[in-house]
Amino acid sequence: MEKNKFPQHVGIIMDGNGRWAKKRLMPRSFGHKAGMNRMIALAEHAKAAGVKYLTVYALSTENLSRRPKEELDGLFGLFRKYFDENIKKLYAENARVKIIGDIAALPEDIARLLSDAEKNSPENAEFTLVFAINYGGRSEIVNAVNRAVEAGKKVGEEEFSSLLYTDGVPDPDLIIRTGGELRVSNFLIWQAAYSEFYFTDVLFPDFSDKQFDKALKDYSERERRFGSV
Ligand code: IPE
Ligand code: IPE
Ligand code: MG
Repeated sequence: MEKNKFPQHVGIIMDGNGRWAKKRLMPRSFGHKAGMNRMIALAEHAKAAGVKYLTVYALSTENLSRRPKEELDGLFGLFRKYFDENIKKLYAENARVKIIGDIAALPEDIARLLSDAEKNSPENAEFTLVFAINYGGRSEIVNAVNRAVEAGKKVGEEEFSSLLYTDGVPDPDLIIRTGGELRVSNFLIWQAAYSEFYFTDVLFPDFSDKQFDKALKDYSERERRFGSV
C-alpha cells in the first residue's frame, strides 16, 4: 500500500457487543468480555500492520449516564483487569497508552489505574493506543472552550485542538464503526472533520483482523480531497 494511502490514525467505535451476546442467548456482559478480548488482539494487529495511533471508543459519556449500574460495573471490572494485567505487555512492545475522556467521574481506583497507565507508558513509543473512556466529543469541546475562556483569550483552530483531550494526536484518518449503526455517537466530532468513515454490520466481537485489513484496503482506494479539486 502506498504510504499516503495508509492511515496513520484509525478510530474504532466498537459497537455490537450486546447484540452479539443476545444472539448467543447470553448476558450482555458476555459480549463485553468478548469485545474486550477482540480489542486487545486488534490493537496488536493494528500495530503490526503499521498503524501509529488506534483510538478505541470503550465508553461514552452517555453510556456512563444511561446504562444500568450492573452493566457498568461489569465493564469497569473488564477495564480494571485489562489495565492491571495487559498493560505491561503493551509497554514491552514499545506502545503507550493515552486516555481521553473525563476519568475523574469514574470509580477512583479505575481513574488511578488509567492515569498510571498513561504516566508509566514508554516515552518514544512507536504506537499509541488511545483509550476513550467516559469520552464525549461535546463535553470535550465545552471543556476546551472553558479552558480558553479561563485563560482569557481567543484561540484559532490549531490552538483550540491543543486544548482537547487529543492534544498531540493527529486527527483520525479513518473511523470504523462496527455493529451496523450509521452514526458517530459523540465520537471525536471535532477531530473527524475530514476523516473517512467505514461502517460495517459485523458486530464488534466478530470484527476480525481480516475485517480490519478490509477496512484499510477500502480506505486506500479512496481519494481524500480536503475541499480541493
Ligand atoms: C458497545 O456495545 C460497547 C459499549 C457501548 C460499552 P453495546 O453494548 O452498545 O452493544 P449493542 O449495541 O447493544 O449490541
Ligand atoms: C457508541 O455505542 C459508544 C461506544 C461504542 C463506546 P452506543 O451503543 O453507545 O451508541 P448508540 O447508543 O447506539 O448511539
Ligand atoms: Mg451499541
